[in-house]
Amino acid sequence: MYQNLIVTGGCGFIGTNFIRYVLEETDFSGRIINVDILTYAGNPLSLADIADKYGDRYVFVKADICDYKEMLSVVEQYDVDSICHFAAESHVDRSILHPDDFINTNIIGTYNLLKVAYEKIETIKRFHHVSTDEVFGSLGAEGLFREDTPYAPNSPYSASKASSDHLVRAYCETFGVPVTMSNCSNNYGPYQFPEKLVPLMILNALEGKALPVYGDGQNVRDWLFVKDHCIAIWEIMFSGVVGETYNVGGRNEMKNLDVVKVICNLVDEVAEPLASGESRESLISFVKDRLGHDRRYAIDCNKIDAELGWTPSESFETGIRKTVKWYLSNMDWSESVRTGEYQNWIKENYL
Ligand code: NAD
Ligand code: DAU
Repeated sequence: MYQNLIVTGGCGFIGTNFIRYVLEETDFSGRIINVDILTYAGNPLSLADIADKYGDRYVFVKADICDYKEMLSVVEQYDVDSICHFAAESHVDRSILHPDDFINTNIIGTYNLLKVAYEKIETIKRFHHVSTDEVFGSLGAEGLFREDTPYAPNSPYSASKASSDHLVRAYCETFGVPVTMSNCSNNYGPYQFPEKLVPLMILNALEGKALPVYGDGQNVRDWLFVKDHCIAIWEIMFSGVVGETYNVGGRNEMKNLDVVKVICNLVDEVAEPLASGESRESLISFVKDRLGHDRRYAIDCNKIDAELGWTPSESFETGIRKTVKWYLSNMDWSESVRTGEYQNWIKENYL
C-alpha cells in the first residue's frame, strides 16, 4: 500500500473526483499531497470539505509541475512513494487558440515529474500517467481504439498529450521508472469546469441560453462517468503491470447532438419551463465547427476488463441524471468558477 501519494492537478475536474474517491471510498490509509498551480481550471473550493475532514492526511501544495526543483523538494519533504499525474491543460478549443501552455505543462511538466521520479527511483513505487484517447486521432464509422492503435494526434492538445505519453514510456524503458498509463475517453460528472460540452449545456439549458453545437453535431464521443474513471485508475495503480498501458472507456458512444438532446429533456423534467413554453431543444444552435474536429472516438476497453476486472458501472442514462442533479444542487459552485469569485478565495487562502 502506498503511504504518500502525490496527485498532480487535484483541484481540477478528474483529480478532485479521484481524491474524493480514494479518501472516502477505498481502504487507503496514507496521505495525499495535492500539487496544483491553480489555473482557471483548478478550484480548491471543490475540496474544501475534504481539507477540513482529513486534516494531515490531505495536504495541498500550490506548485508548478514545470518547476523541477520545487517538485523534487515536494517529493523529499513528504517522503513521496507514488505519483498519480493528472495536471494538464485539458481543453481542446483553448489549445487551438493558445497552444503554448499546452506544450509547457503537458510536455515539459510531465518530463520534469519523470526526471524527479528517476532521481528518486529508490523510493518511488509507482508513477501513473493519466492520458486521453485523443492521442489515437479520429476513427471512421467502424473500429475501436485499442492499446496498440498507432498514435495520430490532431490537435495541439492531443499532440502534447501524445508527446507526454511517449516520454512516460521512454522513462520506463530506458531508466526503469515504474510507470503505468491509461488512455481514457470523455468524462462527465460533478466538478467539471463549464467550458466542456456536458456542464456547458446543462448550465445554458437551465438558464435558457443558446446551446452551441459545433458543425453538424454528428461527431461521436464515448462518454464515461468520472467516478468510473477514478476507480479504473486506482485499480491500475495497484494491480496494473508496470510498463503497461490500459484503455478506459464507457462503452457508450453517442453523437454530440444526441447528448445535448438528452440533457435538454432532463433539464425540462427538473427545472422551471422556459418562458416561451418550448422544450430546451429549441435552444440548440448549430455554430461554426471546431478546427480539425475529430469525427469519432470509441474505446476498446477489453484489456482492463479481462486483466483487472474493471468495467464501467454507470450507464449514460444513470450518470447524466446524477450529473444534472449535481449541477442543479451546486449552482453556487458553478457561479463561483464562472465569475472568478473562487480566484479571490484562492488569494485569501493560498497565496
Ligand atoms: P482540468 O482542466 O479540469 O484540471 C487540470 C488541473 O491541472 C487544474 O486543477 C489545473 O490547475 C492543474 N494544472 C494545470 N497546469 C498545471 C501546472 N503547470 N502545475 C500544476 N498543476 C497544473 O482537467 P481534467 O479534465 O480534470 O483532466 C485531468 C487529466 O485527465 C488531464 O491530464 C487530461 O488530459 C486527462 N483526461 C481528461 C479527460 C476528460 O474527459 N476530462 C479524459 C481523458 C483524460
Ligand atoms: O476524449 C477525451 C478528451 O475529452 C479529453 O482528453 C479532454 O481533456 C476533454 O476536454 C475532452 O475533449 P473533447 O474535445 O472531446 O471535449 P469537449 O467537451 O470540449 O467537446 C466534446 C464534443 O462536443 C466535441 O466533439 C466538441 C463538441 N462541442 C463542445 C463544446 C464545448 C460542441 O459541439 N459545442 C461546445 O460548446
